[in-house]
Amino acid sequence: MSIIVANWKMNLNLLSGEDLARKISMFVEKEKSKDTIVICPSFSMLDRVGSAINGSFIKLGAQDCSHYRDGAYTGDVSAAMLKDTGCEYVIIGHSERRSNHNETPSLIRRKVASAHLFDLKTIICIGETEEERINGMTLEVLKEQLLKSIPENSIFGENILIAYEPLWSIGTGIIPSVNDINEIAEYCSGILATRFLFENKIKILYGGSVDSANCTKILNSDYVDGILVGSASLDYKKFSEIIMASNKLCKQS
Ligand code: PGA
Repeated sequence: MSIIVANWKMNLNLLSGEDLARKISMFVEKEKSKDTIVICPSFSMLDRVGSAINGSFIKLGAQDCSHYRDGAYTGDVSAAMLKDTGCEYVIIGHSERRSNHNETPSLIRRKVASAHLFDLKTIICIGETEEERINGMTLEVLKEQLLKSIPENSIFGENILIAYEPLWSIGTGIIPSVNDINEIAEYCSGILATRFLFENKIKILYGGSVDSANCTKILNSDYVDGILVGSASLDYKKFSEIIMASNKLCKQS
């Protein structure tokens, strides 16, 4: 069983989001998918998308949350508010937030801690830039992001998922080789196992230009537990093909 996360980013609106969510939930039911499917729309659509998937096995997630609990923080949305809207998951530290909003690993760590206080599962994104990859710094960069983004006292591994998303792959149609994805996922699992006393193995997802043509080989990888899908999750046909391909793998294993 895999985890398939749809990151809608800042796309769609109430009507189109609700419509897409409803179609996906009907498809998941028809397909009898065993995977965990999470839809992460923007804040404004959480309530409507939550209603559209209500009664299905699809989970609701957000794309960010505040590191504060509550108070005078104009424009922020707290983890408690996400929980209140029905979210079970939240993406934290996506590279677009790290670069567009100067989110640092220590801020990300505080957001993760805040989300855990309200029992949200955090999908923590890590990834190297093209330049870092060319300079052979990938593992070093990932290690630093991993160690700095996870609260030190974390013991409940089931609330943490790591999404490896190389920045040069997001939205470009280029993906690393499956060998590279495997090697990196294994490396991250090793670091997490040595550094934290998690009871469960942390799940590792891959994100960056995932589509129906490449998802099978990524999900087939021994160290990858799921995928984080951006643009292909906005298109019913493309996303349902991904769900179908993953479900086929489930049935084979
Ligand atoms: P993409 O985005 O699938 O469009 O590359 C993935 C992401 O940024 O989470």
